[in-house]
Amino acid sequence: MSESDKYPAESGRRRFVKGVVGGATLAGVGVLGTTSINATTNASGAGGGSTQAYAIENVAGPAPRGMPQIPIEIDDEGYIRGVWPEVQTVEQNGVEVQLAQTQLGGTTYSSEWFQYCGVESYEGLDPTYESDNYFRSGSAPPYAWQQESKSEGDRFNISDFDDYETWGNGIGEAGIGKPAAGNWRSQDAEDVIPVQMIRSERIEEAAQNNEWLNASTSQGVIAWLNKCTHFCCVPGYKTTGSSATFGGANAVYCQCHQSVYDPFSVVQTLFVARPRPE
Ligand code: FES
Repeated sequence: MSESDKYPAESGRRRFVKGVVGGATLAGVGVLGTTSINATTNASGAGGGSTQAYAIENVAGPAPRGMPQIPIEIDDEGYIRGVWPEVQTVEQNGVEVQLAQTQLGGTTYSSEWFQYCGVESYEGLDPTYESDNYFRSGSAPPYAWQQESKSEGDRFNISDFDDYETWGNGIGEAGIGKPAAGNWRSQDAEDVIPVQMIRSERIEEAAQNNEWLNASTSQGVIAWLNKCTHFCCVPGYKTTGSSATFGGANAVYCQCHQSVYDPFSVVQTLFVARPRPE
């Protein structure tokens, strides 16, 4: 991992985003204007480069930016899956590369959103990796409700979240939203892509007046790639009691170096996606 990937030159950008979204109320979807980044992508590989993604906002700690959202859809039986666009061949810098990319909710949603922290080399991030794209429970979920009702590999159903308006686990306030942790596009793969989702009334309400959230969430469920943009740990929403010490009891907290992300504040973020290995 290069230094530029660990510490993208974004301090100026973050101030700009803060200025746009202010107190980061939900649906305060900031829109970036022109900005510059001085990190360049010079490693060989497929895709990568300057990428603008929607992300849950980083609100405290050393992380340089938010974690990218995974748009979701809920099938006819209520099972929740991440959207993986059709694979396209596009030309970038005179080179043809394969990308899973589509127009969604007024933006370009692309597999490049997830190309950081080494995830760019995971099998599941290969645009052509065969997957049904359902989120699945892992072997050691951090929530009691999941430990009691899910086995490894089980899919999540919207009915798993029926008590989302009241759920709590003693960390922070109850009733904000019900979380689940799992993985995506990782069956039979060596590396597991960690995801987290929350079903929340806040998301439901915000999606009513926001084109992006309306397209990328469903029935109050929002999901994101759960890889801290600082040094790539796996954070958690209400998974660590000590999060309260750092203002993260009602947010997503990374216990490695105390970064906090607000899952109810979605912002656009610009970063340099790493190329996938060829
Ligand atoms: S805060 Fe450092 S890895 Fe998350």
